[in-house]
Amino acid sequence: MPGFLTEQNLMWRDRARTVAEKVVRPLAAKYDRLQEYPWEIKEAIAKAGLSGVWIPEEYGGSGGGVIDLCICVEELSRACGGVGVLYAVNALGTFPVLVGGTEEQKHRFLRPIAKGEKLISFGLSEKFAGSDAASLRATAVRDGDFYVLNGEKKWNTNGGAADIYTVFAVTDPASKSRRTSAIMVEKGTPGFRIGKIEDKMGIRCVPVVEIHFENCRVPAKNLLGEVPGMGFKHAMMTLDKARPGVAAQAVGLAQGALEYAMVYAGYREQFGAPISSFQMIQGMLADMATKVEAARNLVHVAALAVDRAEPNVSKLSAMCKLFATDTAMEVTTNAVQIFGGYGYMRDYPIEKYMRDAKITQIYEGTNQVQRMVVARSLVKESLGLKHLLDFIPKEIQKGVNDPETLKRLAEETANALDVPTHNS
Ligand code: CAA
Repeated sequence: MPGFLTEQNLMWRDRARTVAEKVVRPLAAKYDRLQEYPWEIKEAIAKAGLSGVWIPEEYGGSGGGVIDLCICVEELSRACGGVGVLYAVNALGTFPVLVGGTEEQKHRFLRPIAKGEKLISFGLSEKFAGSDAASLRATAVRDGDFYVLNGEKKWNTNGGAADIYTVFAVTDPASKSRRTSAIMVEKGTPGFRIGKIEDKMGIRCVPVVEIHFENCRVPAKNLLGEVPGMGFKHAMMTLDKARPGVAAQAVGLAQGALEYAMVYAGYREQFGAPISSFQMIQGMLADMATKVEAARNLVHVAALAVDRAEPNVSKLSAMCKLFATDTAMEVTTNAVQIFGGYGYMRDYPIEKYMRDAKITQIYEGTNQVQRMVVARSLVKESLGLKHLLDFIPKEIQKGVNDPETLKRLAEETANALDVPTHNS
């Protein structure tokens, strides 16, 4: 890893790496087989002080940033992708509180998570609302000092294990832009029920469940920000902060698979020589390592942009998620290829990396959605590049010679570049 990481970053990396090597790696296959929540790993993570790395000190956390979160997620995922998300999903659940909660809500919900006493889950998706996150159907209707929740949530990672659920529901069906709100629901609230527990291809140690609400009465003081209608914005701002964590999970998976492939290729002999001496294998390993390093650096750049609240966060966050997770799929698949027949067998850890990697291209926004977010950002940025119009064919520039159009283009360019026009 390059030398631009701070002492603090390296401290978190070493702590997470120790937990990963001593506790996670030896248990990864067992919990993958059992498909059970690994409480002993959760305890080791808490004991190492990793539970609230990204939570500010004033709310009981360690005061690290998304960069520190990503470093820890990468280390844990290098040993087990399921444990990587089991850890990262606590950040996903807390980010809405951090971006939209009142001071009182931040103290109430973040402290027990930072201490490792409670776990949290994030409930946005529904059966009929996946990529189209604005089309939720679950409702939260105000009734005195309560909101009454009805409906269901799908793909709740950590569901069942978690004590607190950040749930997005419709509070104003008539509104287009202020239709939904986020509300914090505690496990055990009457009317809250865990439904189907999914049987998954990968990340099998962490539960993914359906949640049902049947006249579930939640105190109105649990509505994030105590102002309804901010749900979609809170969800989008949360995903901007959380996607580098999924990308870090992907980098960890890719790095872990690459390391197994490097060692295997050095020992496996064919045609009288280790397969690592063959140029085709060397080419594969070199490409794999190069992409992992590129992905890691993009994740760090995006995480730092989130921590510094830079304006291009959505684009960078989407870019790192799509590049790192596509890389993880490619690298883990190639690692299986290098292992040959052994790679396909459950006797060895490598096929699990490939299974764990697949979901990273899907959750927290499919990579098709990430490309959409990046492309929308590029379209906006192109408005600031009108000075290049002289260098593209005039004949395709509809109305470009029309004085009104020229004036409008000059103004748009000036606004985008924030410089005065000749007319001003
Ligand atoms: N930050 C703040 N506000 C934002 C924003 C952002 N990043 N992106 C959009 N908004 C605002 C817009 O400004 C707009 O506000 P106004 O109405 O005030 O103008 C509003 O939100 C609507 O924006 P769009 O028109 O861009 O919204 P859209 O309906 O076209 O959707 C989308 C855009 C990118 C497709 C979005 O729906 C999306 O990200 N979908 C994917 C959802 C997702 O990632 N789901 C995964 C759930 S988590 C999970 O995977 C489970 C797990 O447990 C791991």
